[in-house]
Amino acid sequence: MRIMENRNPTALDVGIDRIGVYVPEYVLPLDQLAAARQVPVEKIHVGIGSYKMAVAPPWEDTVTLGANAAARLFAQGDVRPEEIGLLLVATETAVDHAKPASIFLHELLGVPSNCRTFELKHACYSGTAGVMIAADWIRSGAARGRKALVVATDIARYDLHSSAEFTQGAGAVALVVSEQPRLLRLDPISGVFASNVYDFWRPLDRREALVDGKFSLDCYLNALDRAVADFRASLNGQGGEPLPPRFAALIYHTPFPKMAYKAHLRLFENEWRRAGGDPGELAAAAERSYTEQVEPTLGAARIVGNTYTASLYLCLAWLAEQRGRELEGRSLGLFSYGSGCCAEFFTGQLVDGSASIAPRIGLEQMLQARRELSVEEYEAFARGAAGDLSDAQASFCRFAGVRDDKRLYERTGALA
Ligand code: HMG
Repeated sequence: MRIMENRNPTALDVGIDRIGVYVPEYVLPLDQLAAARQVPVEKIHVGIGSYKMAVAPPWEDTVTLGANAAARLFAQGDVRPEEIGLLLVATETAVDHAKPASIFLHELLGVPSNCRTFELKHACYSGTAGVMIAADWIRSGAARGRKALVVATDIARYDLHSSAEFTQGAGAVALVVSEQPRLLRLDPISGVFASNVYDFWRPLDRREALVDGKFSLDCYLNALDRAVADFRASLNGQGGEPLPPRFAALIYHTPFPKMAYKAHLRLFENEWRRAGGDPGELAAAAERSYTEQVEPTLGAARIVGNTYTASLYLCLAWLAEQRGRELEGRSLGLFSYGSGCCAEFFTGQLVDGSASIAPRIGLEQMLQARRELSVEEYEAFARGAAGDLSDAQASFCRFAGVRDDKRLYERTGALA
Protein backbone atom coordinates (compact mmCIF):
# COMPACT_ATOMS: atom_id res chain seq x y z
CA MET A 1 0.00 0.00 0.00
CA ARG A 2 1.35 3.40 -0.95
CA ILE A 3 1.01 5.65 2.10
CA MET A 4 3.04 8.61 0.91
CA GLU A 5 3.51 10.38 -2.37
CA ASN A 6 7.08 10.25 -3.56
CA ARG A 7 7.91 13.83 -2.70
CA ASN A 8 11.35 14.91 -1.69
CA PRO A 9 11.33 18.53 -0.56
CA THR A 10 14.91 19.66 -0.24
CA ALA A 11 15.89 20.66 3.25
CA LEU A 12 16.65 24.16 2.00
CA ASP A 13 13.38 24.91 0.26
CA VAL A 14 10.92 25.12 3.14
CA GLY A 15 9.78 28.24 4.91
CA ILE A 16 7.18 30.94 5.42
CA ASP A 17 5.01 31.35 2.36
CA ARG A 18 2.51 33.94 3.60
CA ILE A 19 1.96 36.14 6.67
CA GLY A 20 -1.35 37.53 7.90
CA VAL A 21 -1.53 39.95 10.83
CA TYR A 22 -4.42 41.13 12.96
CA VAL A 23 -4.38 43.59 15.84
CA PRO A 24 -7.44 44.77 17.78
CA GLU A 25 -8.97 47.99 16.52
CA TYR A 26 -8.31 49.79 19.84
CA VAL A 27 -5.08 51.43 20.92
CA LEU A 28 -3.98 53.37 23.99
CA PRO A 29 -1.40 56.15 23.60
CA LEU A 30 1.13 55.54 26.35
CA ASP A 31 1.73 59.23 27.07
CA GLN A 32 -1.85 59.26 28.43
CA LEU A 33 -1.20 56.19 30.58
CA ALA A 34 2.08 57.69 31.82
CA ALA A 35 0.24 60.86 32.86
CA ALA A 36 -2.46 58.84 34.64
CA ARG A 37 0.13 56.74 36.51
CA GLN A 38 2.39 59.75 37.20
CA VAL A 39 5.33 58.17 35.40
CA PRO A 40 7.67 60.41 33.34
CA VAL A 41 6.76 59.90 29.70
CA GLU A 42 10.49 59.73 28.76
CA LYS A 43 10.74 56.53 30.78
CA ILE A 44 8.19 54.94 28.45
CA HIS A 45 9.25 56.51 25.15
CA VAL A 46 13.02 56.27 25.75
CA GLY A 47 13.53 53.81 28.64
CA ILE A 48 11.06 51.20 27.33
CA GLY A 49 10.87 52.39 23.70
CA SER A 50 7.07 52.20 23.38
CA TYR A 51 4.52 54.77 22.22
CA LYS A 52 1.17 52.96 22.07
CA MET A 53 -0.27 49.61 23.05
CA ALA A 54 -3.00 47.57 21.40
CA VAL A 55 -5.94 46.82 23.69
CA ALA A 56 -8.23 43.84 23.14
CA PRO A 57 -11.90 44.64 23.77
CA PRO A 58 -13.96 42.21 25.88
CA TRP A 59 -15.50 40.65 22.78
CA GLU A 60 -12.10 39.61 21.40
CA ASP A 61 -9.96 36.75 22.69
CA THR A 62 -7.08 34.74 21.31
CA VAL A 63 -9.45 32.68 19.16
CA THR A 64 -10.93 35.72 17.41
CA LEU A 65 -7.55 37.47 17.09
CA GLY A 66 -6.01 34.33 15.58
CA ALA A 67 -8.95 33.60 13.27
CA ASN A 68 -8.97 37.21 12.07
CA ALA A 69 -5.21 37.02 11.32
CA ALA A 70 -5.71 33.79 9.36
CA ALA A 71 -8.69 35.28 7.50
CA ARG A 72 -6.52 38.24 6.47
CA LEU A 73 -3.89 35.77 5.26
CA PHE A 74 -6.37 33.83 3.12
CA ALA A 75 -7.78 37.11 1.78
CA GLN A 76 -4.37 37.82 0.20
CA GLY A 77 -5.13 34.99 -2.27
CA ASP A 78 -2.93 32.08 -3.40
CA VAL A 79 -3.49 29.92 -0.30
CA ARG A 80 -6.85 28.23 0.41
CA PRO A 81 -8.04 26.53 3.64
CA GLU A 82 -8.39 23.21 1.72
CA GLU A 83 -4.58 23.13 1.29
CA ILE A 84 -3.91 23.06 5.05
CA GLY A 85 -2.90 19.69 6.54
CA LEU A 86 -1.51 20.92 9.86
CA LEU A 87 -3.04 23.72 11.95
CA LEU A 88 -1.08 24.79 15.02
CA VAL A 89 -2.18 27.56 17.37
CA ALA A 90 0.47 28.97 19.69
CA THR A 91 -0.77 30.96 22.66
CA GLU A 92 -0.16 31.59 26.32
CA THR A 93 -3.60 33.19 26.69
CA ALA A 94 -5.59 29.96 26.40
CA VAL A 95 -9.39 30.12 26.54
CA ASP A 96 -9.78 26.66 28.11
CA HIS A 97 -7.55 24.28 30.05
CA ALA A 98 -8.45 21.28 27.87
CA LYS A 99 -10.18 22.38 24.67
CA PRO A 100 -7.60 23.95 22.35
CA ALA A 101 -8.06 27.28 20.57
CA SER A 102 -6.98 25.48 17.39
CA ILE A 103 -10.23 23.51 17.09
CA PHE A 104 -12.26 26.74 17.08
CA LEU A 105 -10.04 28.10 14.29
CA HIS A 106 -10.35 24.81 12.46
CA GLU A 107 -14.13 25.27 12.27
CA LEU A 108 -14.19 29.04 11.70
CA LEU A 109 -11.68 28.83 8.83
CA GLY A 110 -13.17 25.76 7.16
CA VAL A 111 -9.96 23.72 7.27
CA PRO A 112 -10.38 20.06 6.11
CA SER A 113 -11.23 17.41 8.69
CA ASN A 114 -8.15 15.32 7.83
CA CYS A 115 -5.95 18.08 9.25
CA ARG A 116 -3.87 17.48 12.38
CA THR A 117 -4.51 20.34 14.79
CA PHE A 118 -3.52 21.26 18.33
CA GLU A 119 -2.53 24.14 20.62
CA LEU A 120 1.04 24.77 21.71
CA LYS A 121 2.31 26.39 24.90
CA HIS A 122 5.69 27.62 25.98
CA ALA A 123 5.19 31.30 26.83
CA CYS A 124 6.35 33.48 23.91
CA TYR A 125 8.44 30.69 22.37
CA SER A 126 5.58 28.50 21.17
CA GLY A 127 5.03 30.47 17.94
CA THR A 128 8.54 29.44 16.92
CA ALA A 129 7.94 25.90 18.20
CA GLY A 130 5.00 25.80 15.77
CA VAL A 131 7.06 27.09 12.85
CA MET A 132 9.81 24.50 13.53
CA ILE A 133 7.33 21.61 13.86
CA ALA A 134 5.63 22.71 10.65
CA ALA A 135 8.91 23.01 8.72
CA ASP A 136 10.05 19.56 9.92
CA TRP A 137 6.63 18.08 8.99
CA ILE A 138 7.12 19.35 5.46
CA ARG A 139 10.78 18.30 5.24
CA SER A 140 9.84 14.78 6.44
CA GLY A 141 7.53 14.28 3.46
CA ALA A 142 4.52 13.61 5.73
CA ALA A 143 2.82 16.77 4.43
CA ARG A 144 2.28 15.16 0.99
CA GLY A 145 2.30 18.57 -0.67
CA ARG A 146 -0.06 20.17 1.85
CA LYS A 147 0.75 23.32 3.80
CA ALA A 148 0.84 24.12 7.51
CA LEU A 149 -0.95 27.05 9.11
CA VAL A 150 0.73 28.30 12.29
CA VAL A 151 -1.17 30.96 14.23
CA ALA A 152 0.51 32.84 17.09
CA THR A 153 -2.07 34.77 19.09
CA ASP A 154 -1.93 36.49 22.47
CA ILE A 155 -3.14 39.19 24.80
CA ALA A 156 -0.39 40.48 27.11
CA ARG A 157 -2.01 41.45 30.40
CA TYR A 158 -0.37 42.55 33.64
CA ASP A 159 -1.96 44.09 36.72
CA LEU A 160 -3.17 47.68 36.39
CA HIS A 161 -0.71 50.08 38.08
CA SER A 162 2.16 47.53 37.88
CA SER A 163 5.44 48.55 36.23
CA ALA A 164 4.80 45.91 33.54
CA GLU A 165 1.47 47.57 32.62
CA PHE A 166 3.27 49.66 29.98
CA THR A 167 4.48 46.51 28.23
CA GLN A 168 1.04 45.06 27.46
CA GLY A 169 -0.33 44.55 23.95
CA ALA A 170 -2.44 42.20 21.84
CA GLY A 171 -2.38 40.70 18.37
CA ALA A 172 -1.98 37.65 16.20
CA VAL A 173 0.15 36.53 13.29
CA ALA A 174 -0.82 33.69 10.96
CA LEU A 175 1.94 32.00 8.96
CA VAL A 176 1.66 29.51 6.15
CA VAL A 177 4.68 27.19 6.16
CA SER A 178 5.23 25.31 2.91
CA GLU A 179 7.61 24.00 0.30
CA GLN A 180 8.95 26.60 -2.12
CA PRO A 181 7.99 29.47 0.19
CA ARG A 182 7.35 32.83 -1.40
CA LEU A 183 8.48 34.95 1.57
CA LEU A 184 11.17 33.55 3.86
CA ARG A 185 13.18 30.38 3.19
CA LEU A 186 14.22 28.83 6.53
CA ASP A 187 17.66 27.31 7.03
CA PRO A 188 17.49 23.86 8.67
CA ILE A 189 20.12 24.70 11.31
CA SER A 190 19.26 26.54 14.51
CA GLY A 191 20.55 26.98 18.06
CA VAL A 192 18.39 26.14 21.07
CA PHE A 193 18.57 26.73 24.82
CA ALA A 194 16.15 25.59 27.54
CA SER A 195 16.26 25.95 31.33
CA ASN A 196 13.67 25.98 34.13
CA VAL A 197 13.45 29.56 35.48
CA TYR A 198 10.64 31.50 37.15
CA ASP A 199 10.96 34.82 35.32
CA PHE A 200 7.39 35.15 34.03
CA TRP A 201 4.37 32.93 34.65
CA ARG A 202 0.58 32.91 34.98
CA PRO A 203 -0.96 30.55 37.55
CA LEU A 204 -4.10 28.75 36.38
CA ASP A 205 -6.47 30.95 38.38
CA ARG A 206 -5.04 34.27 37.15
CA ARG A 207 -5.95 36.37 34.11
CA GLU A 208 -2.91 38.66 34.45
CA ALA A 209 0.68 37.37 34.23
CA LEU A 210 3.18 37.59 37.09
CA VAL A 211 6.73 38.59 36.34
CA ASP A 212 10.08 39.04 38.06
CA GLY A 213 10.84 41.94 35.71
CA LYS A 214 14.57 42.55 36.15
CA PHE A 215 15.30 38.82 36.43
CA SER A 216 13.37 38.21 33.19
CA LEU A 217 15.74 40.54 31.35
CA ASP A 218 18.74 38.54 32.62
CA CYS A 219 17.08 35.24 31.66
CA TYR A 220 16.37 36.57 28.15
CA LEU A 221 19.99 37.73 27.64
CA ASN A 222 21.46 34.53 29.06
CA ALA A 223 19.20 32.47 26.76
CA LEU A 224 20.38 34.59 23.81
CA ASP A 225 24.03 33.85 24.65
CA ARG A 226 23.37 30.15 24.97
CA ALA A 227 21.16 29.75 21.90
CA VAL A 228 23.71 31.60 19.76
CA ALA A 229 26.49 29.40 21.17
CA ASP A 230 24.46 26.33 20.19
CA PHE A 231 23.87 27.82 16.73
CA ARG A 232 27.60 28.31 16.31
CA ALA A 233 28.28 24.76 17.46
CA SER A 234 25.81 23.44 14.86
CA LEU A 235 27.75 25.20 12.08
CA ASN A 236 30.49 22.56 12.53
CA GLY A 237 33.42 24.91 12.27
CA GLN A 238 32.07 26.69 9.19
CA GLY A 239 31.06 29.72 11.19
CA GLY A 240 34.22 31.45 12.36
CA GLU A 241 33.40 34.98 11.27
CA PRO A 242 31.14 37.31 13.34
CA LEU A 243 27.40 36.82 12.97
CA PRO A 244 25.92 40.34 12.59
CA PRO A 245 27.52 41.20 9.21
CA ARG A 246 26.05 38.02 7.72
CA PHE A 247 22.52 39.38 8.10
CA ALA A 248 20.63 42.23 6.50
CA ALA A 249 18.55 42.42 9.68
CA LEU A 250 18.34 40.79 13.09
CA ILE A 251 14.88 40.28 14.52
CA TYR A 252 14.45 39.69 18.25
CA HIS A 253 11.50 38.69 20.39
CA THR A 254 10.32 42.14 21.42
CA PRO A 255 8.43 42.35 24.73
CA PHE A 256 9.26 46.06 24.51
CA PRO A 257 11.57 47.70 21.94
CA LYS A 258 14.37 48.53 24.40
CA MET A 259 14.74 44.77 25.00
CA ALA A 260 15.65 44.28 21.33
CA TYR A 261 18.25 47.04 21.74
CA LYS A 262 19.72 45.36 24.83
CA ALA A 263 19.72 41.99 23.08
CA HIS A 264 21.49 43.31 20.02
CA LEU A 265 24.14 45.09 22.07
CA ARG A 266 24.77 41.84 23.93
CA LEU A 267 25.05 39.78 20.74
CA PHE A 268 27.17 42.39 19.00
CA GLU A 269 29.55 42.78 21.92
CA ASN A 270 30.06 39.01 22.26
CA GLU A 271 30.74 38.68 18.55
CA TRP A 272 33.04 41.73 18.49
CA ARG A 273 35.15 40.39 21.33
CA ARG A 274 35.23 36.92 19.79
CA ALA A 275 36.62 38.40 16.58
CA GLY A 276 39.24 40.42 18.50
CA GLY A 277 37.71 43.80 17.55
CA ASP A 278 39.15 47.03 18.97
CA PRO A 279 37.35 47.66 22.32
CA GLY A 280 37.59 51.41 21.69
CA GLU A 281 35.43 51.11 18.59
CA LEU A 282 32.89 48.70 20.02
CA ALA A 283 30.27 51.19 21.27
CA ALA A 284 30.06 53.17 18.01
CA ALA A 285 30.03 50.02 15.86
CA ALA A 286 27.27 48.47 18.00
CA GLU A 287 25.09 51.60 17.74
CA ARG A 288 25.59 51.72 13.97
CA SER A 289 24.71 48.07 13.64
CA TYR A 290 21.58 48.51 15.80
CA THR A 291 20.40 51.43 13.69
CA GLU A 292 20.89 49.58 10.43
CA GLN A 293 19.96 46.01 11.36
CA VAL A 294 17.44 46.15 14.22
CA GLU A 295 15.69 49.52 14.35
CA PRO A 296 13.86 48.86 11.02
CA THR A 297 12.20 45.79 12.58
CA LEU A 298 10.59 47.68 15.48
CA GLY A 299 8.07 50.05 13.88
CA ALA A 300 4.97 47.96 14.65
CA ALA A 301 6.18 46.76 18.07
CA ARG A 302 6.52 50.39 19.23
CA ILE A 303 2.81 51.00 18.65
CA VAL A 304 1.35 47.56 19.36
CA GLY A 305 3.25 46.38 22.46
CA ASN A 306 4.00 42.83 23.47
CA THR A 307 2.11 40.19 21.51
CA TYR A 308 3.94 37.32 23.24
CA THR A 309 3.98 34.36 20.77
CA ALA A 310 3.34 36.69 17.83
CA SER A 311 5.96 39.31 18.73
CA LEU A 312 8.87 38.01 16.64
CA TYR A 313 6.62 37.48 13.62
CA LEU A 314 4.99 40.89 13.95
CA CYS A 315 8.51 42.35 13.62
CA LEU A 316 9.17 40.10 10.62
CA ALA A 317 5.90 41.20 8.98
CA TRP A 318 6.75 44.87 9.53
CA LEU A 319 10.26 44.47 8.13
CA ALA A 320 9.05 42.55 5.06
CA GLU A 321 6.30 45.09 4.38
CA GLN A 322 8.45 48.20 4.91
CA ARG A 323 11.85 47.06 3.59
CA GLY A 324 11.00 44.10 1.38
CA ARG A 325 12.36 45.58 -1.83
CA GLU A 326 15.85 46.35 -0.54
CA LEU A 327 16.10 43.09 1.46
CA GLU A 328 15.01 40.63 -1.22
CA GLY A 329 17.45 37.72 -1.45
CA ARG A 330 19.19 38.67 1.79
CA SER A 331 19.59 36.75 5.05
CA LEU A 332 17.87 37.44 8.35
CA GLY A 333 18.79 36.28 11.86
CA LEU A 334 15.86 35.62 14.22
CA PHE A 335 15.84 35.13 17.99
CA SER A 336 12.81 33.71 19.74
CA TYR A 337 12.52 33.73 23.55
CA GLY A 338 9.83 32.29 25.77
CA SER A 339 9.96 32.75 29.50
CA GLY A 340 10.27 29.74 31.65
CA CYS A 341 12.43 29.33 29.45
CA CYS A 342 13.15 28.13 25.92
CA ALA A 343 14.89 30.09 23.17
CA GLU A 344 15.97 29.54 19.57
CA PHE A 345 18.26 31.41 17.19
CA PHE A 346 17.58 30.63 13.53
CA THR A 347 18.11 32.12 10.09
CA GLY A 348 16.43 32.47 6.71
CA GLN A 349 16.46 34.39 3.42
CA LEU A 350 13.82 36.67 1.97
CA VAL A 351 13.29 34.91 -1.36
CA ASP A 352 13.31 36.59 -4.76
CA GLY A 353 9.84 37.94 -5.49
CA SER A 354 8.93 38.34 -1.80
CA ALA A 355 8.84 42.13 -2.11
CA SER A 356 5.79 41.93 -4.36
CA ILE A 357 3.92 39.74 -1.85
CA ALA A 358 4.77 41.49 1.43
CA PRO A 359 2.69 44.66 0.83
CA ARG A 360 -0.42 42.46 0.86
CA ILE A 361 0.03 42.02 4.61
CA GLY A 362 -1.47 45.51 4.99
CA LEU A 363 -0.04 46.00 8.48
CA GLU A 364 0.67 49.73 8.36
CA GLN A 365 -2.79 50.48 7.00
CA MET A 366 -4.43 48.41 9.75
CA LEU A 367 -2.38 50.13 12.46
CA GLN A 368 -3.33 53.56 11.15
CA ALA A 369 -7.05 52.71 11.11
CA ARG A 370 -7.24 51.99 14.86
CA ARG A 371 -9.38 53.96 17.29
CA GLU A 372 -7.68 55.59 20.28
CA LEU A 373 -9.02 54.81 23.75
CA SER A 374 -8.94 57.06 26.78
CA VAL A 375 -7.37 55.66 29.97
CA GLU A 376 -10.90 55.33 31.42
CA GLU A 377 -12.07 53.27 28.42
CA TYR A 378 -8.95 51.10 28.63
CA GLU A 379 -9.54 50.44 32.33
CA ALA A 380 -13.18 49.57 31.60
CA PHE A 381 -12.01 47.05 28.99
CA ALA A 382 -9.55 45.60 31.51
CA ARG A 383 -12.48 45.06 33.92
CA GLY A 384 -14.40 43.34 31.10
CA ALA A 385 -16.93 46.14 30.59
CA ALA A 386 -17.82 46.86 26.97
CA GLY A 387 -19.34 50.32 27.58
CA ASP A 388 -20.79 52.17 24.59
CA LEU A 389 -18.31 50.47 22.22
CA SER A 390 -20.03 47.10 22.58
CA ASP A 391 -21.62 47.18 19.12
CA ALA A 392 -18.24 47.36 17.36
CA GLN A 393 -17.53 44.55 14.90
CA ALA A 394 -14.45 42.46 14.35
CA SER A 395 -13.84 41.92 10.66
CA PHE A 396 -14.23 38.15 10.34
CA CYS A 397 -15.46 36.65 13.58
CA ARG A 398 -16.26 37.56 17.17
CA PHE A 399 -16.64 35.99 20.57
CA ALA A 400 -20.37 35.56 21.14
CA GLY A 401 -20.37 34.77 24.86
CA VAL A 402 -20.58 31.71 27.09
CA ARG A 403 -23.62 29.43 27.25
CA ASP A 404 -23.77 26.24 29.39
CA ASP A 405 -20.06 26.78 30.18
CA LYS A 406 -19.26 26.63 26.46
CA ARG A 407 -17.56 29.44 24.57
CA LEU A 408 -19.35 30.49 21.40
CA TYR A 409 -17.90 32.21 18.34
CA GLU A 410 -19.65 33.54 15.28
CA ARG A 411 -18.49 34.60 11.86
CA THR A 412 -19.26 38.22 11.11
CA GLY A 413 -17.77 38.37 7.63
CA ALA A 414 -16.74 36.26 4.64
CA LEU A 415 -13.38 34.50 4.60
CA ALA A 416 -12.03 36.25 1.53
P1 HMG B 1 10.53 49.25 35.61
O1 HMG B 1 10.88 48.98 37.02
O2 HMG B 1 9.24 49.93 35.32
O3 HMG B 1 11.55 50.15 34.87
O4 HMG B 1 10.58 47.82 34.87
P2 HMG B 1 13.11 50.46 35.10
O5 HMG B 1 13.30 51.22 36.35
O6 HMG B 1 13.91 49.20 34.90
O7 HMG B 1 13.31 51.44 33.89
C1 HMG B 1 13.18 50.99 32.58
C2 HMG B 1 14.17 51.78 31.72
O8 HMG B 1 13.73 53.14 31.68
C3 HMG B 1 15.58 51.80 32.30
O9 HMG B 1 16.45 51.76 31.20
C4 HMG B 1 15.66 53.16 32.98
O10 HMG B 1 16.98 53.67 33.08
C5 HMG B 1 14.82 54.00 32.04
P3 HMG B 1 17.68 50.70 31.17
O11 HMG B 1 18.52 51.00 32.34
O12 HMG B 1 17.03 49.33 31.31
O13 HMG B 1 18.31 50.91 29.85
N1 HMG B 1 14.26 55.22 32.62
C6 HMG B 1 14.21 56.39 32.00
N2 HMG B 1 14.62 56.77 30.78
C7 HMG B 1 14.40 58.09 30.41
N3 HMG B 1 13.82 58.98 31.22
C8 HMG B 1 13.40 58.64 32.46
C9 HMG B 1 13.58 57.30 32.89
N4 HMG B 1 13.29 56.62 34.03
C10 HMG B 1 13.71 55.35 33.86
N5 HMG B 1 12.82 59.56 33.24
C11 HMG B 1 10.38 46.22 33.13
C12 HMG B 1 10.76 47.64 33.47
C13 HMG B 1 10.70 45.93 31.68
C14 HMG B 1 11.19 45.25 34.02
C15 HMG B 1 8.85 46.02 33.41
O14 HMG B 1 8.12 46.81 32.51
C16 HMG B 1 8.40 44.59 33.27
O15 HMG B 1 8.47 43.81 34.24
N6 HMG B 1 7.91 44.18 32.07
C17 HMG B 1 7.43 42.81 31.83
C18 HMG B 1 8.57 41.80 31.74
C19 HMG B 1 9.30 41.82 30.43
O16 HMG B 1 8.82 42.34 29.43
N7 HMG B 1 10.49 41.16 30.42
C20 HMG B 1 11.28 41.09 29.19
C21 HMG B 1 12.17 39.85 29.15
S1 HMG B 1 11.21 38.35 29.39
C22 HMG B 1 10.37 38.16 27.88
O17 HMG B 1 10.67 38.79 26.92
C23 HMG B 1 9.25 37.18 27.88
C24 HMG B 1 7.87 37.78 27.86
O18 HMG B 1 7.58 38.31 26.58
C25 HMG B 1 6.82 36.73 28.25
C26 HMG B 1 6.86 35.38 27.56
O19 HMG B 1 7.85 34.81 27.21
O20 HMG B 1 5.76 34.85 27.44
C27 HMG B 1 7.70 38.90 28.86
